[in-house]
Amino acid sequence: MFRRLKDKVIIVTGGAGLIGQHIVDKCLQDGAIVIDVDINNKTNWEAGKYGCDLTDKDSIIKLVEEVFKKYGKIDGLVNNAYPRTFDWGAKFEDISYESWQKNIDMQLNCVFLLTQHVLVHMKQEKQGSIVNIGSIYGVVGNDFTIYEDYGGTSPAAYSAIKGGLINFTRYLSSYFGKYNIRVNCVSPGGNN
Ligand SMILES: NC(=O)c1ccc[n+]([C@@H]2O[C@H](COP(=O)([O-])OP(=O)(O)OC[C@H]3O[C@@H](n4cnc5c(N)ncnc54)[C@H](O)[C@@H]3O)[C@@H](O)[C@H]2O)c1
Repeated sequence: MFRRLKDKVIIVTGGAGLIGQHIVDKCLQDGAIVIDVDINNKTNWEAGKYGCDLTDKDSIIKLVEEVFKKYGKIDGLVNNAYPRTFDWGAKFEDISYESWQKNIDMQLNCVFLLTQHVLVHMKQEKQGSIVNIGSIYGVVGNDFTIYEDYGGTSPAAYSAIKGGLINFTRYLSSYFGKYNIRVNCVSPGGNN
C-alpha cells in the first residue's frame, strides 16, 4: 500500500485533544513518524508522545532540539494545540486586559516561536510542510444568535488570534515558498 507520509517526521501539537488525536491517527496511517506534543502527555519516544508546555519558551526550544537530535530532520509541523486561560469564554465586557494579553501570548506567540525554530531545519533541508489550525472565526464575523440558547459566547481574542494566524500563514508561505516549504491553514467550523 502506498503511504504518502512514509518516514516523514511530523510534530503535531495538542495531539491529545479532540481534533489533534485524529490528525495524529491520520498521519500514522499514512506512514509518518509522529511526535504528539501535548501538556497532558508523558514523554515516551517509542509511543510517539512528548510532554511539553507550549506556552514555555525554553520548553519549545528544547522540544525542537530533541526531535532534531533523535530523527535528524523535521518534515512537518501541525500547530493545533489550544492553550487558553481559565476565564476563556468570558463576555466581551468582562474580559480583563491581562486575560486578553495572556491568551494572545499563549495561543499566538507560541505558534510563532515553535514555527520559527522548526523552520530553521526545514530551510536547511529545503523542504517541509506546516499546517496551522485556524478557525472559521478567523475568517468571518460571529453569528452571536447561535449562543443565545445556552448563554455562551465566542471569545473576542479567538477572532484576533485566528485571523492573525491565517495571515501569518500567508506571510510564511510567501517567505518560505522559495525553499520548497509549504505553509497552509485549515479553518474548521464548530465541533464538540
Ligand atoms: N473543536 C472545534 O470546534 C474547533 C473549531 C475550529 C477550530 N478549532 C481549533 O482546533 C484546534 C484544536 O481544538 P480542539 O477542539 O481539539 O481543542 P482541545 O481542547 O480538545 O485540544 C487542545 C489540546 O491542546 C493541548 N494543550 C493545551 N494547552 C497546552 C499547552 N500549554 N501546551 C501543550 N499542549 C496544550 C490540550 O491538552 C489538548 O489536548 C485549536 O487550535 C482550535 O482553535 C477547534
